[in-house]
Amino acid sequence: MRLSASFGAAMASSLAVCRLHMKGRGSLSKCLQKVDTFLHRTIGTNVVAVQEEREGCKSLYGVQAERQEQAERSVLISCHSRTNEKKFLKYLSRHGDINKYFFYESYGMYAVVEFANREGLVSLLEEAAIPSISHESMVPFKSRLLSLRNLGSADASNQQSGQQCQPQTTIPINELIQRLSREESIEQQITSLTHVYQLTEENSRLRFLVCSLLKDIAAAYFPECTINPFGSSVNGFGKLGCDLDMFLDLDGISGRNAKMPKSGLWLEYQMKRANSERAVTQSLLSVIGDCVDQFGPGCVGVQKILNARCPLVRFAHQPSGFQCDLTANNRVAMKSTELLYLYGELDPRVRHLVFTVRCWARAHGITSSIPGAWITNFSLTVMVLFFLQRRSPSIIPTLDHLRDLAGPGDKSVIEGNDCTFVSDFGKIQLPSNAETLEKLLCEFFEFYATFAFNKMSISIRKGKEQNKPEVAPLHIQNPFETSLNVSKNVNVTQLDRFVALCQESSWLLQQSDTNTPRGGNAGKAPTPWGLATLLMPSQVAGIKGRKKRRREPASERIKSLLESLKNTNQHKKS
Ligand code: CTP
Ligand code: MG
Repeated sequence: MRLSASFGAAMASSLAVCRLHMKGRGSLSKCLQKVDTFLHRTIGTNVVAVQEEREGCKSLYGVQAERQEQAERSVLISCHSRTNEKKFLKYLSRHGDINKYFFYESYGMYAVVEFANREGLVSLLEEAAIPSISHESMVPFKSRLLSLRNLGSADASNQQSGQQCQPQTTIPINELIQRLSREESIEQQITSLTHVYQLTEENSRLRFLVCSLLKDIAAAYFPECTINPFGSSVNGFGKLGCDLDMFLDLDGISGRNAKMPKSGLWLEYQMKRANSERAVTQSLLSVIGDCVDQFGPGCVGVQKILNARCPLVRFAHQPSGFQCDLTANNRVAMKSTELLYLYGELDPRVRHLVFTVRCWARAHGITSSIPGAWITNFSLTVMVLFFLQRRSPSIIPTLDHLRDLAGPGDKSVIEGNDCTFVSDFGKIQLPSNAETLEKLLCEFFEFYATFAFNKMSISIRKGKEQNKPEVAPLHIQNPFETSLNVSKNVNVTQLDRFVALCQESSWLLQQSDTNTPRGGNAGKAPTPWGLATLLMPSQVAGIKGRKKRRREPASERIKSLLESLKNTNQHKKS
């Protein structure tokens, strides 16, 4: 989900100041390592190790249930940057044992504190005071977003704010280029990029906590509701700073899963009827959007975008710095999140390649945070998955194959769309493919540099090119709503840019002056090489300049492609 330009810019500046201070208690680290199931996967292409790891994988639902439960025992506290940590903890511990806490900065210092049980949380909230006000009026809505107040002055001065900071957003691209240039192989560059960009344990917890705070607002009307994150916040491909897509789930009371008694008397709730499910979604979101706007502490810039194909409420959650999109009745998107998560867990190369391609695309403006004719991260991810299905032997299975492996409990039909696929990772056998990340990256660019976009559609369901069913420059079949094109928004210009950059990147990776470490003089910035070169401003517009470089024999195909590109550029200019 994307933001308007002005909204995006406002949030970008606020995100720039976000810093995460992490403070786990030593005794907690073991327990946290167990919980951290999907954020820090091991690296490598050892097929046996990968298989073993896969069998130990938790389903997305398992991870979500665990995180949700943690979030419900947590509070978000705004505190002074010089808060005396010891005293702060001592004060909180009076209410109950604390499982985990960490500090971060976003418009000031915040702490996320998770109690070991709900009693601790309830006791803390019971003791919290109502702010006294003299001039302003105040909305009397209590939430788990609190402020630490201190009447004494001594604490504020005797503690240096010395915690180690971790950025909550990604490092600037120039810094990343330098960091990658110090690595010794392209393989290492790729894995290093993933580690720098992926969501941290704390960032993930904060995302679930924000959902849980939102749920408290929605629960005023719908006590049985849940609010779950979906999209890149949980599918394993999220980059620090990505938006927070949320799904208001009222399935428990929707009538969809209602069980009718077979005989005898029974009572049922009288419920108002509406013209369509879409109309119900719109009215729910409209009301919840108003509540978030009027009562939600820290929720600003609320926009109700109810006429979109998928109606949503968009806002910024200031204390976390997240840009939030709240949807309802969006169960297919939840399924595609689950599918992406599964693919990411099947083989570590999937996540590494997706992170690398997403980062490369962002560096060249192929993707954007502003809505428009750009390729989206979701489309790019599907393109990477398709490419990995097309390897020989394939690295990941087709969606049809995953459907064939499904058990009775996996059956899922949503609005007439078959969303069934296997949930038991252990049932999935993968052929042995040991291609390196370097090779895969190079081949990815070559694959799309020469793909017949004019005729063919990309389908991860079939794992094969399909004839394009409609005239769109780029056709990527929606995995579940198969009549839809995920990249309907993309225009010819954007597709051409993507292809040109794939051609260029493929060519660059085959040059020995690009694909070998350059080293660097001590104390000086290292010379960019390998993946770092690919993230630098594109040379596509200035191919002529590169003629002076000594060229190694590159693949004839890529050379001729570059030639044709050069000719097209010259043709356009004349
Ligand atoms: N989605 C979908 N069909 C689309 C667009 C999105 O099913 N045409 C689903 C996908 O599950 C996607 C999620 O909605 O992951 C959220 O969409 P979006 O925020 O656009 O993508 P993300 O994957 O979250 O990526 P980003 O980090 O750019 O937000
Ligand atoms: Mg998203």
